Amino acid sequence: MTSIKDKILQRFLEAGGEPISGQQLADELLVSRTAIWKHMKALQQDGYTFDTVKKKGYRLLAKSNKLDEVQIATHLTTARYGHKIHHYDEVDSTQIVAHELIRSGTADGTVVIAETQTAGRGRMQRPWDSAQGRGVWMTIIIRPNILPHQAPQFTLVTAVALIHAMREVCQNFTPSIKWPNDILINGKKCAGILTEMVAEADRIQALLIGTGINVNQEQGDFPEELHHIATSMAIEESEKIDRALFVAKYLGYLEQFSDIYVKEGFAPIKTLWEEASSTIGKHVRATTLREVIEGEAIGITEVGVLEIRTATGEIKSVYSADIEVQ
Ligand code: BTN
Repeated sequence: MTSIKDKILQRFLEAGGEPISGQQLADELLVSRTAIWKHMKALQQDGYTFDTVKKKGYRLLAKSNKLDEVQIATHLTTARYGHKIHHYDEVDSTQIVAHELIRSGTADGTVVIAETQTAGRGRMQRPWDSAQGRGVWMTIIIRPNILPHQAPQFTLVTAVALIHAMREVCQNFTPSIKWPNDILINGKKCAGILTEMVAEADRIQALLIGTGINVNQEQGDFPEELHHIATSMAIEESEKIDRALFVAKYLGYLEQFSDIYVKEGFAPIKTLWEEASSTIGKHVRATTLREVIEGEAIGITEVGVLEIRTATGEIKSVYSADIEVQ
């Protein structure tokens, strides 16, 4: 975070509503008063509101609704994740931007975040609705020292991190995980995870953890066809959510659980995942590329594969599927 504009914003966020004079900012940042004024105008165009207090300077009245790097950074407690954030008003897909960044060698924990996506995608190349300024549409690029076959487990690590962040920021609902990548609240989908990787046969170069989280949508913001299956954190909490705070908490838990996974393996994550799962113990219908399997979801294995006991007592392992919980 090096630009003068970002430094000015950071000063106002730290000042907590107290006025700061233009001269003081100019002296601190070693630029002219005219430069300060120009950056203040740019911040206003980004949606920040200031007033002037006589003989004291400018005062921040209201924050922008945008998920810019500075707002997230004020809440961030991580060692690596989110230390570089690429924020866009609009992109095709944050996954596509992240693939480009990986090619240019971007650091572990780099985040791509957008206010809206014109070609947001979910699992199985399904379109992902990315309402302007309402959700969190982001991809985190991580470079864990794991083997390519372990990559799907990161979807479960991510789900556990999302659940913990939601629990910390919201009190009025209990989120749960539907295997492998859906976060549900009261049976409706609130978030989804899309894990992609760039790898050689024996080495992961980078994982792209794409997360779409419905945060501040109201019911009417969803397209008609999603009304009965989608919800947002704000709908369930009955309150608007501070998206920047939520992103910072999520990055914190993701870094914490990723580090645990890389050091200790999947066992501690499995316990946390099972505790938050709404799939285990239920009758499910799993549609895989080859077959449809019905039965009781009895658990996940030591590597995160779902096990289903069919009516004949046979136990089937499911690596990837669409799951309907009945
Ligand atoms: C799913 O449930 O199918 C996964 C949805 C993942 C959507 C996110 S939004 C940010 C990132 N960019 C994309 O194009 N997709 C993921």
